[in-house]
Amino acid sequence: MPTMLNRRDLIVSAAGLIASAPLAPALAAAMPDAAGTEAAALKDVAARRRLRFGTALSFGALTRDPAYAALVARQCGLLVAENEMKWQWLRPTPTTFAFDRFDAILGWGEAHGIAVRGHNLLWHQPKWLPAWLNAYDFGSAPHREAERLLTTHIDTVTRRYGTRIKSYDVVNEAVNPKDGTLYETSLSKALGGTEPTLDLAFHTARAAAPHAQLVYNDYMSWEPGNDAHRAGVLRLLEGFRRRGTPVDALGVQSHLITQGLPTASHVAALEGPWRAFLDAVTHMGYVLVVTELDVRDNMLPADIAVRDRGVAEFTRAYLDVTLAYPQLTDVLCWGLADRHSWIEGFEPRRDRAPRRPTLYDTALQPKPMRAAVAAALATAPIRTG
Ligand code: XIL
Repeated sequence: MPTMLNRRDLIVSAAGLIASAPLAPALAAAMPDAAGTEAAALKDVAARRRLRFGTALSFGALTRDPAYAALVARQCGLLVAENEMKWQWLRPTPTTFAFDRFDAILGWGEAHGIAVRGHNLLWHQPKWLPAWLNAYDFGSAPHREAERLLTTHIDTVTRRYGTRIKSYDVVNEAVNPKDGTLYETSLSKALGGTEPTLDLAFHTARAAAPHAQLVYNDYMSWEPGNDAHRAGVLRLLEGFRRRGTPVDALGVQSHLITQGLPTASHVAALEGPWRAFLDAVTHMGYVLVVTELDVRDNMLPADIAVRDRGVAEFTRAYLDVTLAYPQLTDVLCWGLADRHSWIEGFEPRRDRAPRRPTLYDTALQPKPMRAAVAAALATAPIRTG
């Protein structure tokens, strides 16, 4: 068959050329090409490299914002419920489950041919567990009762969804970023330690959902100040391997934080420790998943054009380094448009200018960050596995 280059091939190779120069992503992001417009859906750009692209979606956004839901359906090949599988949402009481909201998201994803990940089976921090569980009376045999609660939860959720869910964040954020130690919860205290608790979570998930990819998910990132967090995550991952705990992948949340307009030397300084971390993780045999990409536009001026450019450049630089690992096949954003991002509520800007953490603005128009993600996906090495 004769080789014919279509318009998108040309754009892709142009982006590839640009990507070879340091911080050229800035240029790619600013280029008025198909990557920044709606010409090619992100899921299709990703699929050409055998990658998947997706987002978190909440029940509220799905049911109350049809234009946004349509955008998600158009762009995404992968979904995750933003909150609806977490204990706080799923477990109103010790004896009941409230599945309707998660069911609605899963059903919608399936109706649109979009795979849905499970997030999460145990967010191992007291502040993210239901109040009833933090105050729970584990009775005279606390170890047995904690085991029963945890295994019942994981069994019930994973068996309900069966092979409809092929990847779970089994444990979320068990490492304290301050010092790399493991958090304790009422469950782990009753069970006799955090490691046995996390191990039990993974073993239970493996037994109940043997088909599923099992992920440890955390937010250790590449910015300065994350050394203790990364070291703690590495220790945890080493421990899993040593003890034979069935963990397949590290979920790299990727809640990025800019520190001004990124320069080549700034990015180079971040890249070294980040590569060292990802090298260590992949050498242990773990797969990588980018699970929650968004950007806090810190130390960037309020001016939207400048800010968006800084965010796009930083995202592109980060994805180029991270997507170089062939063990990474899925990239999910934590919300696709600024009007459905958690960042404004979690950490507003000091100058109160509305945050712009995602790929599409509040009017659902694509931003430079969208072009940056498209270009990074388009130029990622093709997955062969
Ligand atoms: C956040 C949601 O976006 C918010 O709506 C909720 O109030 C708190 O949780 N890391 C995670 C996600 O693993 O589950 C978090 O989601 C964001 C940080």
